[in-house]
Amino acid sequence: MADPGLMFACFGCCCGHANNGAARFVRPALRRAFDAAGLQGRVRLAFSECLGPCSEANVVFLYLHGRPLWLRRINTSDLFEAVLAYARIAADAPGAPLPADLAERSFSWTGGGIGPEPS
Ligand code: FES
Repeated sequence: MADPGLMFACFGCCCGHANNGAARFVRPALRRAFDAAGLQGRVRLAFSECLGPCSEANVVFLYLHGRPLWLRRINTSDLFEAVLAYARIAADAPGAPLPADLAERSFSWTGGGIGPEPS
């Protein structure tokens, strides 16, 4: 059976760096957090080049059960842990509601353009 999910943590021109109001993140730390989250076999993590909506750095894109979920300003390790916790729940429960701290950081993005207006 295929994994139900993919997670892209953006590390493009703005995400992961402190040059656009985002927090600096390093890939090994995110990888360690992901590996500790027990998502192996259910969700794959990939680090990506720019996903497009740079104004929202740090951006995480989660694709679970065929549904896209964009998350903006994931700028603390606690927020990244919250994304992992949500992925753990939603991988087994499609359509699980987002917790409030992630719901306020979710946004729509269809690609193209300069990205959504900052909230
Ligand atoms: S660098 Fe992350 S969206 Fe552009």
